[in-house]
Amino acid sequence: MEQFALDAVERLTTRPRAVYDTIGVDPLTPVIGAEVSGLDLSKELSDEQLDEVRRAFLEHHVLVFRDQELSPADHKRFAGYFGELRQMPLTGTDDGDPAILDLTATKESRYVAGEDWHSDGTADAEPALGSMLYVTHPPEIGSGGDTLFANMHLAYDLLSPPMKSFLDGLTAVHDGLIPWQGYTPPPEYVVPKSEHPVVVRHPETGRKLLYVNGGFTSHIAQLSRGESRALLDLLFGLVAREPLLSCRVRWAPNTLVFWDNRCTQHHAIWDYYPHSRHARRISINGGRPRA
Ligand code: SIN
Repeated sequence: MEQFALDAVERLTTRPRAVYDTIGVDPLTPVIGAEVSGLDLSKELSDEQLDEVRRAFLEHHVLVFRDQELSPADHKRFAGYFGELRQMPLTGTDDGDPAILDLTATKESRYVAGEDWHSDGTADAEPALGSMLYVTHPPEIGSGGDTLFANMHLAYDLLSPPMKSFLDGLTAVHDGLIPWQGYTPPPEYVVPKSEHPVVVRHPETGRKLLYVNGGFTSHIAQLSRGESRALLDLLFGLVAREPLLSCRVRWAPNTLVFWDNRCTQHHAIWDYYPHSRHARRISINGGRPRA
């Protein structure tokens, strides 16, 4: 690994770790993800607990909460501590609650959501701050259906200084039709499309990150078609080819994962067909990504 990349990893692995009094925080890897213990999310949380969850969220980007018996109302209350709930045009829940996206996969499924590296909803002008995926029943075969998460701050930091300078100042178009390639979106789907900087800063920590993803980014506005394709393939490939950036969450029944959609990408693994996985997701509104 080049010295600038080693320096980036060293900055992460030697940073002072936060101290928590009301929750347990057990990192999944030195660079992304942590399991949080000591909370019952079916109950209201105290200010101290919430403050520590917020700090752990900014420190680890992906938080895993095990053994949570949550009604849809509990799930919504927990998400509501972090912002307004996102109203989704296509929910799929039986009662049609627009805040809850049903991500259940069964033998009848012909695709599952999120089977590609992506951040949620980046074709929107204001993509989600974060999402909470609650898996009640992982595949009944006892394994499979894991989710990968990648740290996009580190993806940026692993780039060489000249590449970083080149990317700063570029913008990319994110197109809501890309996830539908090969399928016809329902007629009520209003296709979103937005242009965001290729390098943005996290709105709370100010840290820079790489903000293009294979799930939604169509092209880089300032480049020729060929240049844009080559550069995007290179940048998408960083996430796919560099396991150092990512953690892998193995779901157990009643696990909730809360990820920071502003600085991570994720990838669902559909390796359990024809078995089922029952999940529902709530997302939280975010702001416009800024350079
Ligand atoms: C998603 O992309 O939000 C789905 C992730 C998953 O089902 O693991």
